[in-house]
Amino acid sequence: MAYNVGVIGVGSYLPDKVLTNFDLEKMVDTSDGWIRERTGISERKIAADDQATSDLAVSAAKKAILDASIKPEDIDLIIVATVTPDMYFPSIACLVQKRLNAVNAAAFDISAACSGFIYALEIAWQHIKTGYCKYALVIGADALSKITDWDDRSTCILFGDGAGAFVLGRVSEGGILSAKMGSDGRGAEYLTCPATFFGKEELAKRNGKNKATIWMSGQEVFKFAVKIMPYAFEKALEDAGISIDQVDWFIPHQANLRIIEASARKFGLPMDKFIVTLQKFGNTSASSIPIALDEGIQTGKVKKGNILAMAAFGAGLTWSSAVIKL
Ligand code: ACO
Repeated sequence: MAYNVGVIGVGSYLPDKVLTNFDLEKMVDTSDGWIRERTGISERKIAADDQATSDLAVSAAKKAILDASIKPEDIDLIIVATVTPDMYFPSIACLVQKRLNAVNAAAFDISAACSGFIYALEIAWQHIKTGYCKYALVIGADALSKITDWDDRSTCILFGDGAGAFVLGRVSEGGILSAKMGSDGRGAEYLTCPATFFGKEELAKRNGKNKATIWMSGQEVFKFAVKIMPYAFEKALEDAGISIDQVDWFIPHQANLRIIEASARKFGLPMDKFIVTLQKFGNTSASSIPIALDEGIQTGKVKKGNILAMAAFGAGLTWSSAVIKL
């Protein structure tokens, strides 16, 4: 028997500290005008020095669990999508499990950069659909500020920190209608952050310095993104048997307004069909989609019963998409 799996709780958390484009003007050779025109971003939230990715994840998870009206002990699976774990091990999922006292869960992290949240959603969906699990806590949490090269104006203006979480459980109708994952490792070199090994190529990108920070070929990632986002939406909609007109809200990964506008143009849709939060939060990596959904709910745009189409892309290069009836 296959169970219907729905989103029964949503929560998000953003740190207090705001870093504006004007602050960045004082740090690198850039301007508020350039950043807004090329990306749509005005400001972003940055984790405090003593705030770890796991702290962001726990705060978002607590809100989602409260929203779902379940107890932490009910959760039997915790998956955290992140590329900025506090430590190589244990996983953030295990740290979250400890802090929540979710004693009955299996817990692990997955790494698919900005596409990671929907990867985690897809994995959890399969586990609940088959009856292997009953309640899953799926978290996207990243503090890219911790691995940002604050001297590199081409990347440091893009990112912000945050976390978003869903509780998934069985529902009588609707729920997750489709979820897709894909990757193209041929583009692995375009967006990198070394961990334990600095090969010649990574050293060359960093002028011979072994800095464990983000390096990106913005134009290559941009080209991939404008191609893959509409494709990802289309694939998930096709699998779900849902047409573009039936979608109430498109929730794209929040990387660059021009990338979202390209999807809107491709589908002939007005921008007000898309939830956009990047002006205030920048690109928060794996957390951007659950944060955007939570923002949509909190502002009264997204309502129970709405059909949502989500799509993401990121380092890897990876992509993912999902269609959900809330
Ligand atoms: N301020 C001022 N000038 C800048 C800045 C800046 N912050 N950054 C770059 N420039 C300059 C460049 O040096 C270049 O100057 P030049 O023409 O003299 O050489 C000029 O602006 C144009 O640079 P481009 O790289 O062509 O600018 P582009 O319009 O492509 O915008 C951007 C750059 C915003 C990074 C864009 O390429 C982009 O958004 N790419 C996608 C990135 C992305 O979405 N990543 C998401 C994945 S993240 C993850 O998975 C963790």
